[in-house]
Amino acid sequence: MKADEKIGAAKTSEQVRGVLASQLRAQSEKQLRRKLTPQTQTQNRNYNFSSNDYLGLSQHSEVIAAYQKGLLNWGAGAGASPLVTGYTAAHSELAEELAAWFGVDRVLLFNSGFSANQGVLQVLVKAGVVPIIDKLCHASIYDGVSCGGGFNQRIARFQHNNYNDLRDKLPRIAKTACPLVVSEGVFSMDGDTADIAELVRSKGSGLLMLDDAHGVGVTGKASRGVFDHSKARDIDIVTGTFGKAFGVAGAFVATDHQIADSLVQGARHLIYSTAFAPAQAEAIRAGLQLLQRDQTLQLALNQRIQLFKQCAAELKLRFADSSTAIQPLLVGDNALALRFSQALAEQGFQCIAIRPPTVPQGTARIRFTLSLHQSPSAIRALFSAIADILEADQELADACRI
Ligand SMILES: Cc1ncc(COP(=O)(O)O)c(C=O)c1O
Repeated sequence: MKADEKIGAAKTSEQVRGVLASQLRAQSEKQLRRKLTPQTQTQNRNYNFSSNDYLGLSQHSEVIAAYQKGLLNWGAGAGASPLVTGYTAAHSELAEELAAWFGVDRVLLFNSGFSANQGVLQVLVKAGVVPIIDKLCHASIYDGVSCGGGFNQRIARFQHNNYNDLRDKLPRIAKTACPLVVSEGVFSMDGDTADIAELVRSKGSGLLMLDDAHGVGVTGKASRGVFDHSKARDIDIVTGTFGKAFGVAGAFVATDHQIADSLVQGARHLIYSTAFAPAQAEAIRAGLQLLQRDQTLQLALNQRIQLFKQCAAELKLRFADSSTAIQPLLVGDNALALRFSQALAEQGFQCIAIRPPTVPQGTARIRFTLSLHQSPSAIRALFSAIADILEADQELADACRI
């Protein structure tokens, strides 16, 4: 019996363990077994090409000092969920500063981008929207839909960044329900961006939700991600994380008064989960001040991206068409992607292979991410290592070359 066929049939703990064992075996056979690998303090960030700490803020002295001061002032934890006593002045100041920066009515704080997406979708789906989602949206968005309506919830998908497809599908939904168009500012596994103006134009009388986890802090003229590409009032909900450009953790939802109030009433991830630590809010506020104060961090990141793209072009490899800090190299086969990642690790570079189901079947890739931790010489050294590896491995070279 296959692993999937056994699901539901298992009644005893032995049978459940049997199902788990066969699922794990299947993952291994398909070269899809995931594993946790602890980072050590000796690992050199300069050669880490898989972190989302784009601006290096996790190590920034002002962010760390604010965290430390926050710990002394507030202690280690919030002690309760936000609606009980976990929402402190530090949280509220952070939320207000973000709302002013984005130009929205309200910002709510969540423990993670994953839970922020789930919370928003849960509430809006219960209110009656039918989500129509860009096919390449993040897992938390798909999972959020089932949080709201169970697994029978209506959901539509449009081809990635294909606004004709979106506009073709919208009227059918709009006949019976309010569509919620969902997309991302920067796509996490491809590094390409959505056309915000097209999405705003296309949504019609529906609602628009954007996840800007990889955009806020790094894209746009004032580093405000999608908010630099549109009037704030044209986008109904923006979610984002503090775990990437902000270098900390936690997340936000930026929206209007009514939707924010409804989230406070109904987003279970907000209501029933301990608030993140006030010291963490202070660290994020310090990061926000840095982002607002000067653009040198973003300029330096853009220089890294340009250099990376220049080096990539010289090798004529199948890099995705991306101008952001996410630069995926398409390999295709799972085992080959793992082999490539391993070969790079042996040369001291951390470049993680991303495989299905995170990306579509047959599109396993090395997802390189750029950050201010990397020096320009580390980027050049990476490409010299890539050239050497491909020189020695014809099968890999054939898979990656244009
Ligand atoms: C597009 C996107 N949305 C949401 C998330 C989740 O954010 P967090 O890490 O804060 O849970 C991620 C993280 O990988 C992401 O890439």
